[in-house]
Amino acid sequence: MIIFLRTLLFILVSLMLLWGGTSIVTQIIGNAETSYVTTKNNSPKKVLFVYKADPFYNLDQQICQSLAEGLSELGYSSSIVTTKNFEPSLAKANLYVFCTNTYNFAPDWDTKKFIQNKINLKGKKTVAITLGAGTTARAKRLLEKSIQQAGGEIIASKEFWLMRPNDESRMDEDNVTVANEIAKNWATDIVQKINAF
Ligand SMILES: Cc1cc2nc3c(=O)[nH]c(=O)nc-3n(C[C@H](O)[C@H](O)[C@H](O)COP(=O)(O)O)c2cc1C
Repeated sequence: MIIFLRTLLFILVSLMLLWGGTSIVTQIIGNAETSYVTTKNNSPKKVLFVYKADPFYNLDQQICQSLAEGLSELGYSSSIVTTKNFEPSLAKANLYVFCTNTYNFAPDWDTKKFIQNKINLKGKKTVAITLGAGTTARAKRLLEKSIQQAGGEIIASKEFWLMRPNDESRMDEDNVTVANEIAKNWATDIVQKINAF
């Protein structure tokens, strides 16, 4: 019995260490990326997207790109940067979009720190995006709270998932493709909300 309990304890501690290590490595590593989505007439209406690149898969980059493409069709040019690649020259924008990955039911550390310390959001129109495998409700609440604490005005907030269906009526389609389509179409709602404020 004692051998069984010791083995069980050993397995549990090993799993916890492995999960803790993976969580820390995931939060620390990630590419530095910048991309731009412009409008045909190089519109002066600017959007700044900020995210921390996940090291395993690029749903973050894809969702930002899709929403930026939707916004470009409605006259907004976007700069999409990872927290590592942010430059103060990009800080002036008409709309700010923060896209966090969820790790252990919370927003990623870099995006949260960025909102708290790297940008002045007082009175700024802001969109919150929370990504994850499927359990993102708490991370979404915490992301919204940090934006509000920084003085940002949240005009829209949405979750997108890697594993959980993004639209239960489209289960036969690729889930990431569905997420990207939803993100692109969401631009219409967002622009309506910008204009309504
Ligand atoms: C250590 C670790 C913890 C995670 N915790 C959660 C979680 O609590 N909830 C969730 O929905 N996804 C969780 N995920 C999944 C990531 O959030 C998911 O891979 C990512 O957000 C998907 O988008 P990406 O392509 O930008 O990585 C976790 C992933 C890792 C590696």
